[in-house]
Amino acid sequence: MSITHDAVRQYEELVQPDRIHASLHSDPQVFLDELERIWYRSWVYIGHESEVPEPGDYVRKKFGLQPVILTRGTDGEVHVLLNKCTHVANLVCHEERGHTKAFRCPYHGWTFGLDGTCLSLPFRKAYGDDPHKEERALAKPALIGRYRGFVFASMSADVPDFMEYLGRGKDAIDQLCDLSPAGELVLTAGWLRHLTRSNWKIGLEGLVDGYHPGFVHRSMLSTVGTEYNIDASDTTYELARVRDLGNGHGDLDWRDQYHITDEEFQWMTGGTREKLLSYVAKLEEAVGPERAHQLLVDGPPHTYIFPNLFIGELFIMVLDLVSPSAHVQMETPVQWKDAEDLNLRNMHQTHAAIGPAGMILADDSAMVERNQQGLNALKPEWLVRDRGAAREEVIDGVKRGYMSDDTAILAFWSRYRQLMAS
Ligand code: FES
Repeated sequence: MSITHDAVRQYEELVQPDRIHASLHSDPQVFLDELERIWYRSWVYIGHESEVPEPGDYVRKKFGLQPVILTRGTDGEVHVLLNKCTHVANLVCHEERGHTKAFRCPYHGWTFGLDGTCLSLPFRKAYGDDPHKEERALAKPALIGRYRGFVFASMSADVPDFMEYLGRGKDAIDQLCDLSPAGELVLTAGWLRHLTRSNWKIGLEGLVDGYHPGFVHRSMLSTVGTEYNIDASDTTYELARVRDLGNGHGDLDWRDQYHITDEEFQWMTGGTREKLLSYVAKLEEAVGPERAHQLLVDGPPHTYIFPNLFIGELFIMVLDLVSPSAHVQMETPVQWKDAEDLNLRNMHQTHAAIGPAGMILADDSAMVERNQQGLNALKPEWLVRDRGAAREEVIDGVKRGYMSDDTAILAFWSRYRQLMAS
C-alpha cells in the first residue's frame, strides 16, 4: 500500500489495535506527514536547562529536522531559537555548544542576541529607518514548556497544555530528579551519537520492548551473572510491569519487583551504599533516611516520553531524525547534582552499556537495522503487535502488562494514530 497525500483515513486503517502496516516504517511520504502532524504539531523535547547554566551559554539541538539553538539569555531566561538567519537562511550558529554575547551570521554579518533579537545590520544606512526590524528577529517555537530543567517546545499553539501533555511522564522526571540530594540533574557529561540506519519508530519500539533482552542481550546478561525470563509472567520478573502511561508515553516499571527484597541499588550493577557512602549520606541528609531508602530501592525510571525523549534509568536518550530510514540516538549519562561518587560510577556504567564498545546498545542497533533491511521485503504487509493483549489489566487508570508484553509499544502507536489521522 502506498500513501496518498490525503491520508487521514488511511492512517486510521494503517494502525490497528493489534498490528501496524509495514509501510509506516519505510514510506517517504509517511515521514513527511509525521513531520507535519507529529513533530511540528505537538510537544517535543529540546534539551535540559543544565546544558546552558550561565547567561551567554548555548547548545545546538534539533526540532524534527529543524536546527535550533537552546540559549541562556543575559536575563537568565532559557530560549529556543530557530537556527536560520532571517536574511537568506544561513545557520547563525555553527558550533555545537559554547558561550557568546551574540550570534553573528557568517554570510553578511547580521547579528542576533541570545533571545533572537536582531541587534545590528552591517552598513546600516542602506536600511533607512528599518521598517522590517521586528521581522529580522530569529524565529521561535510557538510554545515552551519546562519541568525540573527539561525543556520542551511546540511549533504549534494549538496543542494541549504542557503539563497535561506531560501527564504521567511527570512522575518519571520526578523519580529521576529526586535521586539527587539537591533534586536536580546536571547533564554535562557529553553526548554519545549513534547513527542508526532504521526508521526512528523502530528504534523507539526497542526502548520499551521487554521481550528482546533474553535473546539480544543474553551474552551481556551472562557476563554480569543475571538471567532474564522472557515470559516474565512467573518467576524472574514476576512483579515487574510494562505500562501505557497515556499520551503515547510508556515505561518498564521495576519497582514492585525491587520491593520484594527491599534492597537498595538493584538498578545499578555492583552499586551498594558501602561503595557510595558520600552520595548516600547527602541524600539521607536532604530527604531523611526513610525517604532515601525508598528512592534507592526504586531507582530511576525506564520511561519513554512521546515522541523523542527516553529516560533509560542511567542515561538520557534523545531521538534525532535524519531520514525515513535513519535516525541518531543521542545519549548522555545521568548526572545528579551533589552526587559526585554516584555520577562517576554511572559514567563508567553508561559507557560499558551504550558506549562505542558497550555491551547493550551495539546489539540493539544491530537488531533495529536488520528490521529496516527486512522491510525491503514487501510481504507480509502487516507487523503483528499483540503480545500480552489478553492479559493486560488496568489499575488506577493505567494499563499494565507483563514485562515482555507489547503494552507500551501499543501506547505509542495509539497516540501516533490519533495525531496522524487528525
Ligand atoms: Fe545571514 Fe545574510 S544570510 S546575513
